[in-house]
Amino acid sequence: MNTLLIRPCLLDDIPRILDIRKRTFLHFAPSVYSTKEVKTLLEDINISELEEMIENKSLFVAEENHKIVGCGGWFGESVRHMYVSPEETKKGIGSSLLRVLEEDYKHRTCNSVIKAGVILYARPFYERNGYEFLRIDTDWDGSKFNRMQKKLL
Ligand SMILES: CC(C)(COP(=O)(O)OP(=O)(O)OC[C@H]1O[C@@H](n2cnc3c(N)ncnc32)[C@H](O)[C@@H]1OP(=O)(O)O)[C@@H](O)C(=O)NCCC(=O)NCCS
Repeated sequence: MNTLLIRPCLLDDIPRILDIRKRTFLHFAPSVYSTKEVKTLLEDINISELEEMIENKSLFVAEENHKIVGCGGWFGESVRHMYVSPEETKKGIGSSLLRVLEEDYKHRTCNSVIKAGVILYARPFYERNGYEFLRIDTDWDGSKFNRMQKKLL
């Protein structure tokens, strides 16, 4: 079995993260979003937010055999940038990343609740990890997403 290493993300990791993000959205999003919404989703990335998270050490990457297979972190009060390579999904990598970022968030912010703006098809993933569904909301481009949150014990 391959060992999963979770470590803080570095600036040099950004191209790999962007590649995973693009491939995983192209894999999953077309089943629930229109072509136009998928295009907007792909383009809607704020690199300076990634850089700020890296500087704050609140973005993590998961590595298998020295290869990055996923990432996830927190920004403000929310989970941000959870992406796992499409060929590596449903192996527990996303859940492992969530556990690490939640623990880091809890200890560094002392907040007892973490929020998540969740793409429609990923709701079961967050529910499986203890998040409660709050409501469906509408993004700036008109697309729908789930507002969810988790109470951290
Ligand atoms: C959502 C995502 C991060 C999950 O990562 P993952 O490594 O596959 O998650 P895990 O293997 O830890 O899955 C944990 C549980 O969530 C469920 N789950 C994971 N992905 C799911 C999906 N796309 N649809 C429905 N359920 C899903 C699994 O059933 C699993 O439960 P099980 O082990 O009992 O079967 C990954 O699919 C991904 O990167 N998706 C595209 C990008 C994205 O949508 N990011 C989230 C933005 S809000």
